Amino acid sequence: DTLTLVDHPLVQHKLSLMRDKECSTAKFRRLLREISQFLAYEALRDLPLTTRRVETPMEAMDAPVLEGKKLVFVSILRAGNGLLDGLLELVPGARVGFIGLYRDPETLHPVEYYKKLPGELGARPVVLVDPMLATANSAIAAIDNVKRAGAKDVRFICLLAAPEGVAKMAQAHPDVRIYTAAVDSHLNDHGYIVPGLGDAGDRMFG
Ligand code: PRP
Repeated sequence: DTLTLVDHPLVQHKLSLMRDKECSTAKFRRLLREISQFLAYEALRDLPLTTRRVETPMEAMDAPVLEGKKLVFVSILRAGNGLLDGLLELVPGARVGFIGLYRDPETLHPVEYYKKLPGELGARPVVLVDPMLATANSAIAAIDNVKRAGAKDVRFICLLAAPEGVAKMAQAHPDVRIYTAAVDSHLNDHGYIVPGLGDAGDRMFG
């Protein structure tokens, strides 16, 4: 199984507030930022630790600190930026990449319009973020991209997923674990997650 459902009650509560069509843009952004930190808490749980000598006011100790190179967040534009903000509050030293993709409304295929990735992806955990995993076409294309650039440890954080997208991701990238707050019922004919919350990019940015 490649999916981790983050079913913490606070996450579930906040997600329900976001689904409400009366939720304002400002509130939607704030809730997404808050939820992103719970999702990251799970997604980064296995980061390797080493120790560093620290002098407390009492005595010296070998204290646990993160090992290795700084991790990388890759935001899938536009909507990924709503998750990215919260993640950077949690891991301020992370490197950041951007992949701009929009879905062709007819074919639902992702069209790339921007890409900027940090160096040494092979030596860092790479966490892709996008609130919606619908057909998974966008996520798969973004992951193809970071793997081509050398990434080996790749994780994917989203807010909401469709079962169709989860299955397709597991086929295309079985090594990439998905962290999500919910898996909804299904995709409609336009590739929207149902019941979902509408278009995350539009709800965040208008
Ligand atoms: C939405 C969403 C994902 C993608 C998910 O983006 O933010 O990137 O669709 O769909 P998929 O799993 O079927 O590929 P959209 O194309 O609306 O662009 P935006 O983020 O710029 O609004």
